[in-house]
Amino acid sequence: MSKFMDWVDARFPATKMWEDHLSKYYAPKNFNFFYFFGSLALLVLVNQIVTGVWLTMSYTPSAEEAFASVEYIMRDVEYGAILRLLHSTGASAFFVVVYLHMFRGLLYGSYQKPRELVWLFGMLIYLALMAEAFMGYLLPWGQMSYWGAQVIISLFGAIPVIGNDLTQWIRGDYLISGITLNRFFALHVVALPIVILGLVVLHILALHEVGSNNPDGVDIKKHKDENGIPLDGIAFHPYYTVKDIVGVVVFLFIFCSIVFFFPEMGGYFLEKPNFEQANPFKTPEHIAPVWYFTPFYAILRAVPDKLLGVIAMGAAIAVLFVLPWLDRSPVKSMRYKGWLSKIWLVVFCISFVILGVLGVLAPTPGRTLLSQVCTFLYFAYFILMPFYTRLEKTKPVPERVTG
Ligand code: HEM
Repeated sequence: MSKFMDWVDARFPATKMWEDHLSKYYAPKNFNFFYFFGSLALLVLVNQIVTGVWLTMSYTPSAEEAFASVEYIMRDVEYGAILRLLHSTGASAFFVVVYLHMFRGLLYGSYQKPRELVWLFGMLIYLALMAEAFMGYLLPWGQMSYWGAQVIISLFGAIPVIGNDLTQWIRGDYLISGITLNRFFALHVVALPIVILGLVVLHILALHEVGSNNPDGVDIKKHKDENGIPLDGIAFHPYYTVKDIVGVVVFLFIFCSIVFFFPEMGGYFLEKPNFEQANPFKTPEHIAPVWYFTPFYAILRAVPDKLLGVIAMGAAIAVLFVLPWLDRSPVKSMRYKGWLSKIWLVVFCISFVILGVLGVLAPTPGRTLLSQVCTFLYFAYFILMPFYTRLEKTKPVPERVTG
């Protein structure tokens, strides 16, 4: 075996990569619950790719046959139902995991210097993931696939001058048709997965260049032993590989329970109108995107003007990109930040959740007002950040991690 590895190492940096990224990558020893979600995101990504490849073997990307081919997968293909439900539930699981992963970033200031690029690559992953989910949702060619895509694509029509041409260019037709379905299929199964995989590699390379942050936000590289190993660091392998397996087992237990017993999740993971084939002549009574888009959908609807609504929705995502430069706090972790940061983070999270709920519901005057208040608070969290992070009194950060 060692002779074989010598042969490989002389031609390819296998052992070097193993050491750099696993056995000699020293991660802070105080990782907590929130640090499970990076490896879980990787797990879900693999699940989506594997089940997606198998689904593609039996799926037909045409307006005439797409809906029936999904029914065929569900009823006739061996293990087809499980493959499809692993994939559809996996999409929602991806966003649950990624939202918790991003929340951890907000909590411990993981986006701050020197991890700005880790955060930016993460945000690009998030954008690509939203595009991936949006395009994947058209593929079953159900009523919500069709009308959801109709609503979102028509938003581009609000852009002055080029709006109409742009929507036509995206659809490839005067209305959503088999042509749109075909190009979304190509982007969903080939182009975007490659982009996402590439970005994940960049994300992890950037992280390993500077090292992981931790719940204390302390730089573990400041205190090293005589061999240059951080005193508060432990080798990723075997310590965190084993720990992450615990997270994987718990996650799979919950995930499989949903796949086996509640794959529709009361209409949140698989919406009810999508059990009916797309019909351009019949608009569903109430069109709502899947839950992971609804906070942004609520922001869109909170603004009375269509163009301004689209701009607000875009800005809600864009502002996350500049987060590393909005936070002026001398400390990273919420543990040592002041009250203002803590209160604003809570306000932001509550607003985001309320917006998510409002985005699912049909609008009423009262709900619209609430979504306007929450939209205001959502943006206030970011816009006021340079001020409250500088003004507030922070607690002294310990030299070493606190365990
Ligand atoms: C496919 C999606 C993603 C995958 C597979 C992924 C994977 C990972 C992994 C394996 C880690 C190291 C382990 C950990 O710290 O949990 C990590 C860290 C990190 N990720 Fe992601 N990530 C994804 C999306 C995102 C997104 C959307 C963001 C934010 C916009 C993000 C921001 C971060 C940050 C800031 C860190 C460093 C955390 C720290 O050191 O405290 N990631 N990611």
